[in-house]
Amino acid sequence: MTTKSKAAAQDAGYRVLSPADLSAAHGLRAFALDVLNGLSETPKRLSSRWIYDDEGSRLFSRICELDEYYPTRTEAEILRNHTEDILKRAGTDKLDIVDLGAGDGRKTNIMLEAALKQVKDVRYVPIDISEASMGGLVKNMRGKFAGLKVAGIVGEYFDGLHWLSQSNDRRNLVLFLGSNIGNFNKVQARVFLRQLWEALNDGDQVLIGFDLKKDIELLLAAYNDKHGVTAAFNKNLLKRVNRELGGDFDLAAYRHFATYDVFSGAMESYIVSLKRQTVTIRDIQSSFEFQEWEPLHTEYSYKYLQSDIDGLASNTGFKILDQYFDNNGWFTDSLWQVEKPSL
Ligand code: TRP
Repeated sequence: MTTKSKAAAQDAGYRVLSPADLSAAHGLRAFALDVLNGLSETPKRLSSRWIYDDEGSRLFSRICELDEYYPTRTEAEILRNHTEDILKRAGTDKLDIVDLGAGDGRKTNIMLEAALKQVKDVRYVPIDISEASMGGLVKNMRGKFAGLKVAGIVGEYFDGLHWLSQSNDRRNLVLFLGSNIGNFNKVQARVFLRQLWEALNDGDQVLIGFDLKKDIELLLAAYNDKHGVTAAFNKNLLKRVNRELGGDFDLAAYRHFATYDVFSGAMESYIVSLKRQTVTIRDIQSSFEFQEWEPLHTEYSYKYLQSDIDGLASNTGFKILDQYFDNNGWFTDSLWQVEKPSL
């Protein structure tokens, strides 16, 4: 069935909202709704996807500089050593490098520098939820790499994927670096990767960062640094509720806490209430009571075994072309290729 034109639909007694109508109505409400849902549940939760406003993105950049936070520099090491090989395997002279959740783009620098030398026609397509990060990133990349074509997208991964599916005359190399995949549970990861597969063309490639299961002390230190940057980052969620929804969280009356589940492989982050207290959030006309020591869950960061990675690729239609490791074997960037049956 084809979609009716707006006028025809109105005659029929309904109207089709344009994407612009929908997204304008969507922004703040999605956050407010999620806060209302999450704080009403037992146990309480607030999704870490809301941590990355402009202040959160700045704090995350600081986390990436910390000694304890090994993922960033470890993955940078992998890229420094193997980018040439990764680009060779793309085997094209017309390449879109699509960066999902680019953040401050520091790791992408390594990739772009090599790509400009190795690939004739390369375009950089960063996708990030924070407009301030994107503005800085694009400016930074243009300053650093004269002549680089940049086509950034501010939005969620799925908006980016939608964009991808519509522009398919070039070979795509999708970067999904850091522990981005780790923020999905194993089922969500599978669904996400299958959607990515759908949006891409046969032969397109994806480079995915997987944080590996490792010494538990290293994990715990990485998610609870001694300078308290991670604590401030996690508690930025409460700050954002205060700022954007008129909440009255007393930040000093909560603490950050991180723990590890050896079986699922999840690093789990929480915010714990240090006393009995009530928070009131004006924009959702609600109050929530916290008991002393009551936890609020904010994030999972799943760590992988090699067998998990192999299973995920084969279950979602990808072939693992190669896998690159750091010297300690703490992290891996896995290079996958989309395999679609020919029609
Ligand atoms: N999601 C990222 C990771 O898994 C960032 C992160 C680090 C994080 N520490 C955190 C998110 C604490 C929420 C709370 O490494």
